[in-house]
Amino acid sequence: MRKAYIDAIGMYVPPKVVTNKDLEAMMETSDEWIRERSGIQERHHVDGECTTDLALKASQEALAIAGMNPEDIEHIVFSTMANDYFVPGGGPMMTRRLGIPGTPAVDIRMACSGYLYGLSISKAFIESGAYNNVLLITSEVQSVALDFSTAGRDTAVLFGDGAAATVIKATDEERGILSVKTHADGRYAEDLMLRTPSTLDNPFLTNELLDKGYGRVVMNGRSVFKHAITKFPEVIAEALEAAGVEKKEVKLVVPHQANLRITEAVANRLDLELHKVVFSNIHKYGNTTSASIPIALYEAQAEGKIERGDIIVVASFGAGFTWGASVIKW
Ligand code: UT7
Repeated sequence: MRKAYIDAIGMYVPPKVVTNKDLEAMMETSDEWIRERSGIQERHHVDGECTTDLALKASQEALAIAGMNPEDIEHIVFSTMANDYFVPGGGPMMTRRLGIPGTPAVDIRMACSGYLYGLSISKAFIESGAYNNVLLITSEVQSVALDFSTAGRDTAVLFGDGAAATVIKATDEERGILSVKTHADGRYAEDLMLRTPSTLDNPFLTNELLDKGYGRVVMNGRSVFKHAITKFPEVIAEALEAAGVEKKEVKLVVPHQANLRITEAVANRLDLELHKVVFSNIHKYGNTTSASIPIALYEAQAEGKIERGDIIVVASFGAGFTWGASVIKW
């Protein structure tokens, strides 16, 4: 039966590293507070680059690994919180950046669950026979929407910039994306939101609106935490059942890198066996929203933690609220 599988992943983070110590110089915070509450030690911030700059670098690496030229891409799926322009989105922009005018492209803005929704769409596109491959790009420039004064410290320390690109292809082999389950619940929209888009140039974002918190990520951290630790295990169980896979078969769980404490709480709520296999790289990148899962997959693979034939679970929770999980036979 025709399946969609992950053929290659590329990643890119901007070179500028911002450590917890650097943040101490900008606001009232401490390296100790940030490490204890989130597990983060440093993150990368753009220094003039825009969302499609990061996306282009990640896409070029993914295509090189897959042995593809940009012209080979049949469809782009693009996920971000911060497009270069409000309209058009990053999908159409990437056809320009990659030099492939005319290639179909669609944008999704599902925040931290962007990768899961992207997998869901890509799987459907491929399994229906509509396309033989999809380039799923997840690129996030969040530092421009953070408040680096003490007033914004609860979110400014958590998020980082980064991008990944995933080549998803069709196969008749017994491998690939076995299941994807996604959810959304808008009742909690205001618990994690960006009211006004952050773009290269937003003439609507006046100083008065900025003072009101528009153009900034706003979060009720406790509410996000509470819902995340319940929804992660629920949706993972749902995705495993849909795939007909048992927990004990899972080699690695790669959750959205939101916060090490969330990852640990989720691992505890799963079971001991899974606790040993949960991957984390949040200490290096912070929370890169929809780019975090593919960046983690990229690094887990580079570290030899994922091999062909392994059963991998990816899962996310974030703004919306939205959440999802997928079971993948690598
Ligand atoms: O993709 C989803 C993205 N979001 C998340 O994953 C966030 C989920 N939530 C969390 O991870 C946690 O709620 C946080 C890490 C955001 C906060 O941890 P917390 O234990 O819930 O802290 P809190 O918000 O209750 O704040 C405790 C104290 C407060 O001071 P007072 O009122 O006790 O005096 C805050 O003002 O910590 C203070 N605080 C800080 N102190 C130093 C908040 N941010 C900082 C900071 N540095 N950066």
